[in-house]
Amino acid sequence: MYHLLKVLLFRIDPERAHHITMWWLMLLLRIPGVKALFKSLFQFHHPSLERTVAGMKFSNPVGLAAGFDKNGLYLHAMAALGFSHIEVGTITPVAQDGNPKPRLFRLIRSRALINRMGFNNDGVEVLASRLEKERPEGLIVGANIGKNKITPNEDAAYDYLICFERLYHLVDYFTINVSSPNTPGLRELQDKGPLTELLTALQENNPDDKPVFLKIAPDLTTEQLDEIIDIIIETGLTGVIATNTTITRNGLTESNESVDSIGAGGLSGAPLIDMSVSVVRYLKEKSNNNFVVIGVGGIEDYASAKKHLDAGADLIQAYSGLIYTGPGLVKGILKGLQTSGVRRQT
Ligand SMILES: Cc1cc2nc3c(=O)[nH]c(=O)nc-3n(C[C@H](O)[C@H](O)[C@H](O)COP(=O)(O)O)c2cc1C
Repeated sequence: MYHLLKVLLFRIDPERAHHITMWWLMLLLRIPGVKALFKSLFQFHHPSLERTVAGMKFSNPVGLAAGFDKNGLYLHAMAALGFSHIEVGTITPVAQDGNPKPRLFRLIRSRALINRMGFNNDGVEVLASRLEKERPEGLIVGANIGKNKITPNEDAAYDYLICFERLYHLVDYFTINVSSPNTPGLRELQDKGPLTELLTALQENNPDDKPVFLKIAPDLTTEQLDEIIDIIIETGLTGVIATNTTITRNGLTESNESVDSIGAGGLSGAPLIDMSVSVVRYLKEKSNNNFVVIGVGGIEDYASAKKHLDAGADLIQAYSGLIYTGPGLVKGILKGLQTSGVRRQT
């Protein structure tokens, strides 16, 4: 069924296709009985899949990665597709348009995407007012926060603090995004000095010890990863989300010319899996499993999900896999995990 829909959707500009699909999905879910139908089609529950991570109870290990629901509009729709958690954002203090369109591209033969969205979002106030409304039962909601494009890096901590404080009582966890390649200079915040300063400032304003994760790029050197391990432990952060999109263009089936013609942006989807998994494995091994790691990058089915989990990921997230695999993504992964005899968390 999704194969058929995909043929139609893939004829439309990717960003428009996203909005059209979500509009129809939300409309569909308003029809009496459709929610129950979705439950039987797309959700899968089993005690062995439940996880408690950083004090949060997840019904299964699979979440929706940041960027899909930047403005907290789709919590009910995405919960209906079986995700245990949804990371809204990246959100910034003030609404911004992001980069000029087109800014999202499909690489169909590689099952990949390139995006240079540039943190288009409605701003923290609008997100907060949406999160104040009723939330799907049992769904864990995280907020992925960033800085506005016009804010210089020296003042970036203020932007993160504004979002952190406004959303503090509205979400279950935070993710600090310093790894998007589409906001000029943002990735420099991954350097030791600015990163320590930023995370220390946030932790000083975290009276309830709310879980806080750092989302990192897959393009970091092992020296940079070592520094990040030290900083996470020093600042008492909950853990790392590994990884964001890559600025490399490795492992693509499309010709160099067609890839080059797309221009700048972060690459996600199937070609990212090995890079992300090796970051997950490195962090877990080098830190002696000292903090939580959430694995993201190239998860599109049970086999790719298992690679992240085998590398030590405590939870996993997906974005591009939902576009290529469709609404059965989560159930497919969960059934695979359950039948392969994944152990109940002890
Ligand atoms: C269109 C698009 C927009 C994204 N926006 C964000 C974002 O706002 N914040 C963020 O932390 N990650 C963002 N990401 C990165 C994803 O959360 C994820 O880390 C990355 O795509 C790798 O996972 P995947 O291979 O499952 O897509 C975005 C990805 C895509 C494709």
